[in-house]
Amino acid sequence: MVLGSRRLGLAVASLVLVISAGAACDELGDDITQQRPVALEAVLDNIGPDGSQVPGTAAGLVVASPSRNDPDYFFTWSRDAALTFKMIVEEYIRDPSGRSHLEGHIRNYIRSQAILQTVANPSGTLLPSGRGLGEVKYHVDGSRFNGAWGRPQHDGPSLRAIAVIGFAKWLAEQGPEGEAEARDVIWPVIANDLSYTGQYWNTTGFDLWEEVHGASFFTVQSQYRALVEGAQLADRLGVSCGPACDEAPEVACFLNAAFWNGQYFVSNIHNSHARSGRDANSMLGSNVVFDVNAPCDSPSIQPCASRALASFKQWVDGFRDGNAYPINSGIPPNRGVAVGRYTEDVYLGGHPWYLITYGAAEFLYNAVAQWKRQGSLTIDSTSRAFFADLYSRAPEGTYRADDSVFSLVVDAVTAYADSFVEVARRYTPEDGALAEQFDRRPPFQPVGARDLTWSYAALITMAASRAGEYAASWVPADESAPSAPCPRPEPPHGTYFPAIAAGAPNNTDSLCAVPVEFRVLARTYYGEDIYVFGSASSLGDWDINNAQPLSTNEYSDSHPLWNAVVDVDAPGERLAYKYVRRQNCNQGYVYEWVDRYLDLPPCGTTDVLVVNEQWNGPTGQPGNC
Ligand SMILES: *[C@@H]1O[C@H](CO)[C@@H](O)[C@H](O)[C@H]1NC(C)=O
Ligand SMILES: *[C@@H]1O[C@H](CO)[C@@H](O)[C@H](O)[C@H]1NC(C)=O
Repeated sequence: MVLGSRRLGLAVASLVLVISAGAACDELGDDITQQRPVALEAVLDNIGPDGSQVPGTAAGLVVASPSRNDPDYFFTWSRDAALTFKMIVEEYIRDPSGRSHLEGHIRNYIRSQAILQTVANPSGTLLPSGRGLGEVKYHVDGSRFNGAWGRPQHDGPSLRAIAVIGFAKWLAEQGPEGEAEARDVIWPVIANDLSYTGQYWNTTGFDLWEEVHGASFFTVQSQYRALVEGAQLADRLGVSCGPACDEAPEVACFLNAAFWNGQYFVSNIHNSHARSGRDANSMLGSNVVFDVNAPCDSPSIQPCASRALASFKQWVDGFRDGNAYPINSGIPPNRGVAVGRYTEDVYLGGHPWYLITYGAAEFLYNAVAQWKRQGSLTIDSTSRAFFADLYSRAPEGTYRADDSVFSLVVDAVTAYADSFVEVARRYTPEDGALAEQFDRRPPFQPVGARDLTWSYAALITMAASRAGEYAASWVPADESAPSAPCPRPEPPHGTYFPAIAAGAPNNTDSLCAVPVEFRVLARTYYGEDIYVFGSASSLGDWDINNAQPLSTNEYSDSHPLWNAVVDVDAPGERLAYKYVRRQNCNQGYVYEWVDRYLDLPPCGTTDVLVVNEQWNGPTGQPGNC
């Protein structure tokens, strides 16, 4: 493929968009133009230190929602924060008049993440394994969150890398000073996240909805982009990404070979959940990797890819069932509907989500932009059902821009995209407030966390796509990936350093830890959790409130295993510890009868020391609540 010729399309396509945006009767466009700055202010209201909705939040940290109960989202999630700052960086770059407003936030974010990277947490520490980077969320003051949770989640580091790379790439083009800052201050933050991504992409973790332990399409897609774009930035800055970025082709191979079932991308694999796998996951992932200049057969799986379109239709159609989703009853197949995560969803009622309904529109605008940029579109047997809903004749074939089928299809898909926006707008309260979900049943009221930062960010990225404002390209002209069967991966050990120049504390000694996998057989009732605690700060220093949660990722009836790999920050010492059951209904804890001891290897050990044990103590009783 020739990048130059695709670039040529740019001027023409955006010219057309500018003209149509200037047309008098784009009511939806006027509405979005009004909502966009409102949404941006709502995002900034949820960011420390000055966000009006989130007092007490550290500088640069994004709070998921100001809601502190039912549900409590008053934390900073790595994923939500990264997606939010990806948007903020893109807004910053495209609109010079708004820069002074956003620059401080971006610098605060990078600094806050340099610090967070060094915070020891239940997923681990930065040194020597990098495992701490897989942590999901932190308290809003930047301290570790100690509760049981679906961890690790591997998309946090790759999404953060994408967001920060976006800024560093731009900065490096601003002159020698910017380039030096990108290289000396910002790159070390990115390098840690790339090391993590290269090292752990082929291990299981939790999906973006924090429910399924396995391999997740969205996560792998973001990992691929981070590694490719990271390698490009490293080249540009004259630094090295190390072996981590060399993993990109294998990640792409896995992405293309493992998730496709012949009809759609199964969003989560390597798990035992009885779900179809039709999930907003893959649609959102294609938006994250979107590059308007990328070809539709890019191994990154762009919105215009036939398989992405087929998956989109399969997933959206699940929400067209008017019995399950009265909000969508009677809507014809060529009109957008209110969409949620996946139809088996029960979380808070499993309603449609704002960020997903806007995401669906963005996905479609993105696909249209790619066809226009390429000056052609292809309808094949994989994507035909998607197109047939919108343009019933939709014969298979490749249509060039001067063909009437091309413009009919492009207009139909654009109108389809608009109709998703109209749905989200229809169920948005007058003041523009965006919660997480909106009820599928009358009177279709907002549900769940109020003022969800990600909902606002999704409105803004949708608005940018609709307006023809695209971020810089990242898909390389010579992109290639091995085809199936994929080579057996041997991911490299990453190298990790606190990003001191960016603001990380310079205390590498105290960050040293050795990895221990605690494995204990303990039969528990639903709602009862197992923790381990003991004489190291990563085990709470005998403070039960800071005990380390174990996970049920490998638990089964026949083998009731609770386990976790913990980076124990007491190298070379004799560790004392015991297991404890946390009872449900605030009944407190049940402790083991014994104290256990373990002699730890010295600092620098990367091999995981595995201890296999059996619960030795009383059992608990489910409470009545
Ligand atoms: C690791 O990669 C191989 C080759 O692509 C794949 O077959 C396997 O399912 C992957 N496992 C995980 C957990 O990602
Ligand atoms: C970090 O601390 C060490 C030892 O105190 C010192 O030698 C080193 O120069 C410091 N690094 C930075 C970047 O400040």
